[in-house]
Amino acid sequence: MIFESHAHYNSEEFNKDREALFKRLPEEGIQYIINIGADLRTSRLSIEMAKKYPFIYATVGVHPHDVKDMKEENLEHLLHMAAYDKVVAIGEIGLDYHYEHSPKSVQKLWFREQLKLAKELDLPVVIHSREASKDTYDLIMEAKLGDRKGVIHCYSGSVEMAKDYIEEGFYIGIGGVITFKNAKKLKEVVKAIPLSKILIETDAPYLAPIPHRGKRNDSTYLKYIIDEIAIIKGVSPDEVEQATYDNGKKMYFDVEKINSWLGCQN
Ligand code: NI
Repeated sequence: MIFESHAHYNSEEFNKDREALFKRLPEEGIQYIINIGADLRTSRLSIEMAKKYPFIYATVGVHPHDVKDMKEENLEHLLHMAAYDKVVAIGEIGLDYHYEHSPKSVQKLWFREQLKLAKELDLPVVIHSREASKDTYDLIMEAKLGDRKGVIHCYSGSVEMAKDYIEEGFYIGIGGVITFKNAKKLKEVVKAIPLSKILIETDAPYLAPIPHRGKRNDSTYLKYIIDEIAIIKGVSPDEVEQATYDNGKKMYFDVEKINSWLGCQN
């Protein structure tokens, strides 16, 4: 069983065949999908999908690309959306200095605010960080999150920084890039960190792995990511599948909360 820890199925790239795909995904072994919000609209759509499909869970948050339009009252909107049971994290949030679609100071401001929100709600965070390693790390440390930390999605930093994040209780998100020939640094990261700290993700519709690089990505391609991690770590694909499944549940699902629901039913 596969745990898809990061996809954007609200993307219009799926408008033509979303329903058909969602029918097929469980048949192909995809047990859970975390559908990621990137602004208010896609956060809302994520929740709609989670309401409709039992295997889909949602996150809500505003991506660094989009924080330039963010207003104070939008934090309220996120807070309201996060109250829904199947909202399992705040994200994706973070810093992107590569594209810098929003000014750096604005990115930092809303990253701080959304980290605060996650802490208040006791939800983990889904972090997007591109060419902003140090500032991302510093702001996360400054936020002093609770026990449930989160994941550094589509990790692109150094081995040392990955170890620092793990030390702090974070998971490292590994996607299609791991299958690319030039992904030397990322392969070293995967080699150096324990399997118990890795989540697998597609970031669909983006970043399809080899042999589908450049095409539309979907969760059925997670198998290529599993195979590559298995080769790097010298274990079986089954072991990678099982470990990343367990990790996904541990990170995104509040076991205590679920147990208390079950307790209520008895
Ligand atoms: Ni994403």
